[in-house]
Amino acid sequence: MKDTYRRNINYLRISVTDLCNLRCKYCMPESGVDKIQHCEVLSIEEIIKIAKESAKLGIRKVRITGGEPLVRKGIIDLVKGISEIEGIEDVAMTTNGLLLKKYGKELKEAGLNRVNISIDSLDPDKYRKITRGGEVRQVLEGIEEALKLGLHPIKLNTVIIGGENEADIPNLMNLTKIYPIDVRFIELMPIGEASTWSKEHFISNEEVRNRVPELVPLNQEIGSPAKYYKLPGAKGRVGFIDPISSHFCAECNRLRVTFDGKLKPCLHSSQEIDLLPALREGKESLNKLLKEAVNSKPEKHLLDTEDYEAVTRNMSQIGG
Ligand code: 5AD
Ligand code: SF4
Repeated sequence: MKDTYRRNINYLRISVTDLCNLRCKYCMPESGVDKIQHCEVLSIEEIIKIAKESAKLGIRKVRITGGEPLVRKGIIDLVKGISEIEGIEDVAMTTNGLLLKKYGKELKEAGLNRVNISIDSLDPDKYRKITRGGEVRQVLEGIEEALKLGLHPIKLNTVIIGGENEADIPNLMNLTKIYPIDVRFIELMPIGEASTWSKEHFISNEEVRNRVPELVPLNQEIGSPAKYYKLPGAKGRVGFIDPISSHFCAECNRLRVTFDGKLKPCLHSSQEIDLLPALREGKESLNKLLKEAVNSKPEKHLLDTEDYEAVTRNMSQIGG
């Protein structure tokens, strides 16, 4: 379905839980998030219903996010349900990878096509510090499992935090020499915990790129928010996603659903459309609310302007 700026909205991102088995510093408070009442969380059936209605309006690609989607009960059934919907051509997941070794095979069999895995350091101590207790070995095992199962293309997402993991940049990039995967650097966004952080923590991707002069630029892929480069002789690519310093709003093709049933036309706006009345009280039709969300997508976000008001929900509640 086309929005008011003639963008073709064909991509739905669904956050299936705000809970996570990690506590990344920039994402969650140390104490985690309060467990909200179970009834406020969308059920697996409700999520499938939303995906079905979305497919009728032209959604072709679904990404399952969190929090950490693999801690959600019923996740395998959900993947299966979504992959069986007519019109859905691609089912992907963003995960921290800790449980991928355990669930990878079932996910693949349920119809999951591919995974993005978040990893901010290869150094066990630093990884533990950033994630407040995670074991990077488990993520690496998850990556190996995903490769073995053919859940590809596999993309790794990395956030560089000033004063924290800058020294890891070369090692993370070097993963593309060992594995046929893309390693993508995502600029830290002033969302969630990071919304109150001082400037020194925000390192631009330009700076990250400048530290590794061997990178060779590749042709820009249409429709991808990442700019890709390659290290000489590498099997995979190094990508840069600059949500802060470059707008990709003009090519934005996505809608988001939060774990508690709100449609978000734009990641960087607090505007939300509640789907619960349609799902539970039959007050509105899902179809109408989905159309309303598409039609209210703003032309661009206000992140770097004076009009910007920080989005208070954590990334773990929106799903990135
Ligand atoms: N800025 C950038 N990326 C973030 N993520 C979570 N919070 C932020 C933030 N403030 C990323 C995680 C993961 C994905 C789900 O979102 O690192 O890759
Ligand atoms: Fe969990 Fe991802 Fe947030 Fe880290 S960034 S705490 S892995 S949801």
